[in-house]
Amino acid sequence: MSGHAAPRLRSLPLGQGAEAPLFAARVVAITSGKGGVGKTNVTAGLALSLARLGQRVVVMDANFGLANLDILLGLSPKYTLEHVLRGEKVLEEILLEGPSGMQILPASSGIQELTRLDTMSELRLVQGLQRVAETVDWLLIDTAAGIHESVLKLLLAAQEVILVATPEPTSLVDAYAMVKVLHLREPSKPLWLLVNNGQSAEEARETVDQLQEATERFLGKQVPVLGMVPNDPHILQAVRQQRGVVELFPDSPASRAFGAIAQQLLGQVSLQPDDFAAFWRLPAPGDAP
Ligand SMILES: Nc1ncnc2c1ncn2[C@@H]1O[C@H](COP(=O)(O)OP(=O)(O)OP(=O)(O)O)[C@@H](O)[C@H]1O
Ligand SMILES: [Mg+2]
Repeated sequence: MSGHAAPRLRSLPLGQGAEAPLFAARVVAITSGKGGVGKTNVTAGLALSLARLGQRVVVMDANFGLANLDILLGLSPKYTLEHVLRGEKVLEEILLEGPSGMQILPASSGIQELTRLDTMSELRLVQGLQRVAETVDWLLIDTAAGIHESVLKLLLAAQEVILVATPEPTSLVDAYAMVKVLHLREPSKPLWLLVNNGQSAEEARETVDQLQEATERFLGKQVPVLGMVPNDPHILQAVRQQRGVVELFPDSPASRAFGAIAQQLLGQVSLQPDDFAAFWRLPAPGDAP
C-alpha cells in the first residue's frame, strides 16, 4: 500500500457564513473511539519528535471536557482556550512554550463543548488557528474520545486524522465505529491508524489486520498504518514526572517509536506488514538475544 499525499491546504468548516479559512500548516487531529487509549501521550510524543526534527509544531488541547496536555508536560497555563473563546485573549496570547521549542494551546477542563460555542466564539477560534497555522509546520489537535459532534467537527476540519487504537477488543470495535462515522461524513478523509500499547509486534499486527479487514470489507475504506507504539513503562514514569517521554527517555522503546512515526509522517508513507517487526525494534525470532 503506498502512502497518500495529504492536501497542503484545506478549509475549516467551522465558521458559519465566514469565509472558509486556509491553513499553511499540516493540520492533524489525533483521535480514538474508546477513551484512555493513549491519544494525549501520542500527541505529545509526536509533537516532541517532530520538534526535535526541526519542525515548528503547535499542539492544541481540544479535550475541552478533560484537558490534560499541559499537566502531562508539567506546564501551568495562566490563560487557556477558554479566555480566547470568551474574547478576553487572542490565541497568540495563550501560546505556551513547551519542550524542544514546541508550543501548546492549553485548554481548561469543564469548558463548553465546541458544538455549543456561539458563532462569535467559533469565529475567534477559527481565525486565531488560521493565524497561528500560518507560522508553523504542524498543528496537532488532541481530541476527546468518542463519536461526538464536537469531536467530529474537529476531525472534519483537520487535513488528516490519526486514529489511535489498542489491541483490546473494545478499542478495536470503537475504532471501527469511528472510521465508519468519519467515512460516512467524508469518504476521502486521509486517515491513519496508530496502534498503541501493544505487547508485541504480532499483537499489533493482528489489531491492524482485524481493523483493516473490517473497514475494507464493510466500508471499502483503506486505513493505512502509520506506526505502532509498544507498551512501555517509561511512558508511565514520564507521566508521573510530568515530562514528555521523548524528552526524558529518548532511547526508550516508546520514544524510538514516536521518532519513527514522525519520520513516517514527514515521508508520507504507510507501513508495509513486513516492516512491523523492524518498526517494533524487537529482535526477530532466532536473533541472538
Ligand atoms: N504505550 C504505552 N505504554 C504504557 N502505558 C501507556 C502507553 N500509552 C498510554 N499509556 C498510559 O495510558 C494512560 C492513558 O493515556 P492517555 O491519557 O494518553 O490516553 P487518552 O486516550 O488521551 O485518554 P482520554 O481519552 O481520557 O483523553 C496513561 O496513564 C498512560 O500512561
Ligand atoms: Mg487525552
